Amino acid sequence: MKPIEQMQTPDPRNVEHWRADFPILGERVHGRPLVYLDNGATTQKPAAVIYAENAYYRHSNANVHRGVHLLSQRATDSFEAARAKIARFINAQRPEEIVFVRGTTEAINLVAQSYARPQIKPGDEILISAMEHHSNIVPWQLVCEQTGAALKVVPIDDTGALDADAYERLFSERTRLVAMTHLANALGSINPVERIVAGAHARGVPVLLDGAQAIAHLPVDVRAIDCDFYAFSGHKVYGPTGIGVLYARAALLEAMPPWQGGGDMIRSVTFEKTEYNEIPWKFEAGTPNIAGAIALGAALDYVDSIGMEVIAAHENELLAYATDALRVIPGLRFIGTARDKASILSFVLDGVHAHDVGTILDHHGIAVRAGHHCAMPVMQRFGVPATVRASLALYNTHQDIDALIEGLGKVREIFGT
Ligand code: ALA
Repeated sequence: MKPIEQMQTPDPRNVEHWRADFPILGERVHGRPLVYLDNGATTQKPAAVIYAENAYYRHSNANVHRGVHLLSQRATDSFEAARAKIARFINAQRPEEIVFVRGTTEAINLVAQSYARPQIKPGDEILISAMEHHSNIVPWQLVCEQTGAALKVVPIDDTGALDADAYERLFSERTRLVAMTHLANALGSINPVERIVAGAHARGVPVLLDGAQAIAHLPVDVRAIDCDFYAFSGHKVYGPTGIGVLYARAALLEAMPPWQGGGDMIRSVTFEKTEYNEIPWKFEAGTPNIAGAIALGAALDYVDSIGMEVIAAHENELLAYATDALRVIPGLRFIGTARDKASILSFVLDGVHAHDVGTILDHHGIAVRAGHHCAMPVMQRFGVPATVRASLALYNTHQDIDALIEGLGKVREIFGT
């Protein structure tokens, strides 16, 4: 990633062009123009993505890898072209390192069950952090229950940044895997992933990164990061729901047993013995989400057409604007103030439950998430039951932030705070 000063300065006029690409942004909510600030939960879809999914069903729908007929070949070609596009997007060495899954959650469970579980012994350790989403906690707890391994948790400081010294200290001879988020969904903290990987590799320990949030906000280069596994969901990067990606080094995928059995993941089957397919298809049992994969490819093309560095610069400017505007609101406290941060504004308002804030904002057309954000340990760490989270995307504007500030003013009026 280029240093911020070398990034292109965003041209604010472009934001209006980008907004025009997203049909849903024209919706009205409770009679008001939609202000969509729940991008951490899911992003909206540009017309190119909606069109790609629609065009697939209109012109190419057939099963992949199975048919001799034209439609099947067309579907297979588009499906595999999407895989190659995804490989390029994250700079994987080969398309075979891209496994299609339903989303980040399934990708992490695949690694937990297929990579970790078969080789982890009682007393071994898996290292995660205190800022993880449940989907990067529970799969490892399951593996620990299944194998007798222990989960070790690297603490975070009061800003929500990883405690780098504790990370180094928590390694032991029994550490078998590190699993960490790239960008924390409840806090916005960006983890120093290159350092995390270097520290783990120096001890011969592989690293999985949960890229669910990072994929839409930071340039991701899996070879520069040097991680062993990288997981992300299509719907958080302007693609459809129900499609996601596990990147894994080819050598690791070759060595891992399949996770699910079924059609397409085999080369030959008899009742005595089954030979598995090559990677990545060994991990893609059953008919995949073909339309979703193709539309995810279209989403990444869309992102590329703007440029991730341009998007990041725009969002960083907006994050700074929003942070300055929110911090002067009496009774507002940010949860998550790490120096390296992106796209997330998580906060509590004195005397008002986050759900009430979210409901009142909704009545003003403003969509935010309120709750624990599937990161209950983060809430416990900061001693709050829930936060309000406004999360940014490429189509958000200063006006969106101004609407949020105005909406919070209404909340304070209603609650007399
Ligand atoms: N993981 C999603 C979020 O952070 C759902 O909102």
